[in-house]
Amino acid sequence: MEFRRRTLIVWGLLITLSLLVAACGTAPTPAPAAPAEQEAAAQPAAEEPAAEEPAAEEAAAVEEPAEEAAPASGKLEVFSWWTSGGEAAALDALFKSFNDSNPDVEIVNATVAGGGGSAARAVLQTRLAGGDPPDTWQVHPGFELIGQYVEPEFVAPVTDLYKEEGWLDVVPQTLVDMQSVDNDVYLVTVGVHRGNGFWYNKKLLEENGITVNETMSVDEFFEIAETLKAAGVTPLCVGDSGIWANAELFENTLLGVLGPEGYQGLWDGSVAFDSPEVKQAMEVYGRMLTYINDDHSALSWDQAVKALIEGRCAFNSMGDWAYGEFVNAGLEDNVDFGWVSHPGTDGSFMIVADGFVLANGAPNEEATKDWLRTVGSKEAQEAFNPLKGSICARTDCDRAKFGPYHNWSMDSFSADALVPTVVHGAAAPADFQQALNDAVTIFVVDQDVEAFAVALTQASQMSGIAP
Ligand code: GAL
Repeated sequence: MEFRRRTLIVWGLLITLSLLVAACGTAPTPAPAAPAEQEAAAQPAAEEPAAEEPAAEEAAAVEEPAEEAAPASGKLEVFSWWTSGGEAAALDALFKSFNDSNPDVEIVNATVAGGGGSAARAVLQTRLAGGDPPDTWQVHPGFELIGQYVEPEFVAPVTDLYKEEGWLDVVPQTLVDMQSVDNDVYLVTVGVHRGNGFWYNKKLLEENGITVNETMSVDEFFEIAETLKAAGVTPLCVGDSGIWANAELFENTLLGVLGPEGYQGLWDGSVAFDSPEVKQAMEVYGRMLTYINDDHSALSWDQAVKALIEGRCAFNSMGDWAYGEFVNAGLEDNVDFGWVSHPGTDGSFMIVADGFVLANGAPNEEATKDWLRTVGSKEAQEAFNPLKGSICARTDCDRAKFGPYHNWSMDSFSADALVPTVVHGAAAPADFQQALNDAVTIFVVDQDVEAFAVALTQASQMSGIAP
């Protein structure tokens, strides 16, 4: 409960700050000046006679290399759910980066298929409960990290790594806060996805005489959807064999209808799930469902992206791991596919961050720390994120190494209201996340707004979100 209160406060501050930033009209890309200063400070002051205390520190700093441990060796088990074409290619880039500096460590790639971690998290919990942790695993910050792994003490703090590697100077405070408890950091973030993406098959739309503007309102989408439907084209691609993908369509619609402040209110208890605005979002969501592909429940999220690529449907509301599928298929930004924010969500950035943890009692702790050093490094993030669709968790990545989509997303991250995802574990506890998936499963079939509102209101009360 204490953690829940704390987390809600952090999210409250987060959105307030980001709204202030947006309101001021600034687009701050934190300058990497601090690390440079730090480097300068670390240089022995050759020309100036050193004062007594710094001299002692310098002596210690000089001794350090002599104590350097032998390179890590043995096996390193990395657990994740990155199995789609784009996800696997990006993960492979991380592995290559790691093995460049750790050639003697054999990576055991422990993946459990199922987008969003829908199957992986249960497998992981069984292993953790049985005292058989992988060395490191994929985690979302916020409730998922703290509630499922920090509080039960399945993970160890990595604060020392942050200090040694100078990450506190290059990782936005927003992210550090989402992965800290009592001044200790527990996660090394590798990338930040934008959850409220709305992707489209550019050629298919062109063939149907449709031009998409830079932003899209809910009404504009419905107008386009009608045109497409009349031409025999399925407007919206959904692959909800893992129901989270349909919950994502709802989450994005909630953000679009309520706006960032209203959406945030859902998680601090100030906006009720049976309020008129939420019911209106449910109506809009229900209307969107009338435009989806018939085979949605047979497809996974990435198969839905494939359907879009093949022109079997036109739009897909999905986090920008969808971008990884486009890139993996050899497609080009703004040529083969395009994007806007999910209808009505322009000006907001739904944060879905990915990171890795250090298991408490990791079988190979030394190699795990080296793995985390890789995950947090500029080089690895610059190799991984262009393939994954996410932007770097660090602010000093070289923009020139990223294409049009990533640069657009980086601008959005600096300027827009940052809001937490519930579907990917940040905004609410796991029991609410589960209840949401269950309620969506039913709503997709019966489209009963009243029942949907009751289910979510009850779930929010039971999980301690609502008073
Ligand atoms: C999210 C994760 C992304 C992506 C997506 C689909 O939970 O943060 O990195 O993998 O699931 O599997």
